[in-house]
Amino acid sequence: MTDQYAVFGNPINHSKSPAIHRQFAEQTGQDLHYAKQLVATDEFVKAAHEFFKQGGKGLNITVPFKIEAFNFAQQLTPRALRAGAVNTLAIQADGIILGDNTDGIGMVHDMHNLGWELEGKRILILGAGGAVRGILQPVLAEHPAQVIIANRTFAKAEELAAHFQDLGDVQAKSFEQLDGEQFDIIINGTSASLSGDLPPLPENLLNTNAACYDLMYGAEPTVFMQWAQQQGAAKIADGLGMLIGQAAEAFYLWRQIRPEVVPVIMALRRQLNEKK
Ligand code: ATR
Repeated sequence: MTDQYAVFGNPINHSKSPAIHRQFAEQTGQDLHYAKQLVATDEFVKAAHEFFKQGGKGLNITVPFKIEAFNFAQQLTPRALRAGAVNTLAIQADGIILGDNTDGIGMVHDMHNLGWELEGKRILILGAGGAVRGILQPVLAEHPAQVIIANRTFAKAEELAAHFQDLGDVQAKSFEQLDGEQFDIIINGTSASLSGDLPPLPENLLNTNAACYDLMYGAEPTVFMQWAQQQGAAKIADGLGMLIGQAAEAFYLWRQIRPEVVPVIMALRRQLNEKK
């Protein structure tokens, strides 16, 4: 029987994961089937049990189930443990269900594809929610000089900085405290873009040659990307490559084959532009 995979979420209709994994499977000659499944908000555990009971090999998990998936997994990778959330489940040869979080490594790989290095860099991360928690371990593993987490609710930035401080120099600041600071890389991990908002950022935050990355993506540049442009950022990117990067890592966990991400990023970018 063809190996079965799926993405669970609510909503799920617009998920690009089936299209991404179909392209990976074609590219690598893997025989697999990948579906999307709308799961009722109180039925995640039931649906996941059922999926694996019927012989399913692996799941991607999206909003709002990443924390439930973390609790559901019988074993966790170190990065999933740090993230406190799981976006990928895989049944192993011994029948144990492994939970991983590939979001952060997907972003770091995308930055590498873009030619951005994180090592030795001063990095500012905006936001302190689930998305930021998911990227901190892979970012710190690149050995940046320093990571500053700035958030509207300062206490949440402080909590995150404390949770990751054993992995590198990571500190919390309020937006006001950023005045006079300079960074090589700024990552927007707030959900402010969704409503067209931007955190209140002081002028002159960018070093020469600075890079700005938004975890969100869309057909048009996000408000954060527009801000980066106005501030003279040398490099600007959105999170489309991260979406495909996290999928590639999940595919690798399931199939032990690393697909090519660049052609898939280009295909999805074309599709986004056509819909404009
Ligand atoms: P996600 O899973 O996308 O990270 P989340 O956990 O709800 O979602 O976190 C959203 C993040 O965006 C938080 O850091 C939030 O700031 P608060 O912790 O102060 O709530 C941030 N955020 C959302 N809207 C914002 C806005 N308009 N301005 C600044 N920060 C905003």
